Amino acid sequence: MEQQKKRETWHSSLGFILAAAGSAVGLGNIWRFPYITGEHGGGAFVLIYLICVALIGLPVMLCEIALGRHTRRNPVGAFKQLNPATCNLAVLFGVGLIFCGVMMLIMRSFGWGILFTLIGALVTKYRWTVVGVMGVVAGFVILSFYAVVAGWTVGYIGKAISGRLAFDTVDAAAVSFGSFIGNPFLSILCLFVFMALCIAIVCKGVQGGIEKISKLLMPLLFLLLILLIIRGLTLPGAMAGVRYYLRPDFSVISGESILVAVGLAFFSLSLGMGAMITYGSYVSKEQNLFTSSMAIVGLDVLVAFLAGLAVFPAVFALGFAPDSGTGLAFMALPTVFNQMPLGILWAFVFFLLLLVAALTSGISLLEVVTAYWVDERDWTRRNATLVFGGCIFLLGTLCAVSVENWDSIRPVQSLLQTLFARLQPSLFATMETASDWMLALGGLMTALFVGWIWGIRHAVDEIRHGSQNFADVHLWSVLAGLKDDPSHNSEVHVYTIASVWGVFVRFICPVAVVIAFLYTIGWLDLGEDASPEPPPEPAAELAPP
Ligand code: PHE
Repeated sequence: MEQQKKRETWHSSLGFILAAAGSAVGLGNIWRFPYITGEHGGGAFVLIYLICVALIGLPVMLCEIALGRHTRRNPVGAFKQLNPATCNLAVLFGVGLIFCGVMMLIMRSFGWGILFTLIGALVTKYRWTVVGVMGVVAGFVILSFYAVVAGWTVGYIGKAISGRLAFDTVDAAAVSFGSFIGNPFLSILCLFVFMALCIAIVCKGVQGGIEKISKLLMPLLFLLLILLIIRGLTLPGAMAGVRYYLRPDFSVISGESILVAVGLAFFSLSLGMGAMITYGSYVSKEQNLFTSSMAIVGLDVLVAFLAGLAVFPAVFALGFAPDSGTGLAFMALPTVFNQMPLGILWAFVFFLLLLVAALTSGISLLEVVTAYWVDERDWTRRNATLVFGGCIFLLGTLCAVSVENWDSIRPVQSLLQTLFARLQPSLFATMETASDWMLALGGLMTALFVGWIWGIRHAVDEIRHGSQNFADVHLWSVLAGLKDDPSHNSEVHVYTIASVWGVFVRFICPVAVVIAFLYTIGWLDLGEDASPEPPPEPAAELAPP
């Protein structure tokens, strides 16, 4: 019965590329990338980030889209369909997790113990399908804090329009930001507006909702970004910002920077939780998956890079310090804009840009959850988006009232405290950290699954539809422009794009992610952390949010 339902597809190849790029381009690019780059050595970090994107991001992107198109399912359905009947590796892994869980319970670490035992039992029973389940859960977790920040941008657009962003000092902006996020009514209202927009779009379906809005918003995003860059670069003193952003300073690069780059690559490319599996499941067989993946990754990197060019020149030209995360977008920039002619207009343009970017990502997160309930549980799209969008909103309200600390949700804190001894400073921070882990783990599992379980041969057969160059033409012939000369073609995979990709998926991606993991949990030391250089022109002190 399920098979008879006709699956929606994207109306055009461009529609898919814009929607997927819309998912990838988000707060991660415009809000996180510039300041992380600033903190981690500017141009040197950009270089490392590009290497991570090429070595890990692009191959995993292709894995996810191929998985989606082949199975025509949401992440859970996709893994379920290709799950091998028996898999000793998964059983071994599951039993290992249960063992660790029981040990933790014995050592009275109840939260982790229960979590490990539960996941171990699920892995033993359902094997690889658990990776898909983790993706749907990650959809909930990520959207619940993502929508909070996106809600702030809604609020700040309102403030820009009503002229309430005219701050003379960053301190004044910080006080205003603090009282804004500390006001539960306002932040929940803004969260509600954002979630309502996401629900309305996803409700309208793949072509009529997601694709249509992405085709409208992505060009708008580029337009807004270019306006801001031109404004920033034409200010006197802007070049100091460009230098700060792009001058490669390898002395501040440490093992941690590499790790940050890996995490940012997964988050920024929307990988590791099945968003691209879901979007890929609506792609037609004629579409070239390889060039589409390159286009999506390319657009994502381009927007991240341009966002830095929009932010730093303006910040430096007006003599502000560039070194603060959330504060950069919501405190320093409004102050910077206030000192420009037509400041209100620029602030409006900037927050609209943030909202547009967040919206196209938010809908992809909600679509993962929706697709699961529609495919696997036979819900109607409308009910699924309303019910689960609503649940995410409720979880989001908890995050919204606990951005800085647990004060307003003490019962939740005490419950978590009894389970996990050490907690993050707030629920918001907990969700953020959990999502980083889930994405990296999900990405690793996806690469292992495609590389070793589904098999590169089957994946390549899928990608071959719509892309002959990928598997059947010698890589050098493609690069040299000789692909139409039959004598240069090779049936044997020696140096085809496919064979190079296979090696990446099977070996390079998993090893790179595992190294990043070992480093995070402290089992691997990649050298002393270099202390970051003080910012060159510390004109104003920025309080961390
Ligand atoms: N890629 C989005 C961003 O950069 C965030 C996101 C992560 C969206 C995972 C979907 C899935 O903001």
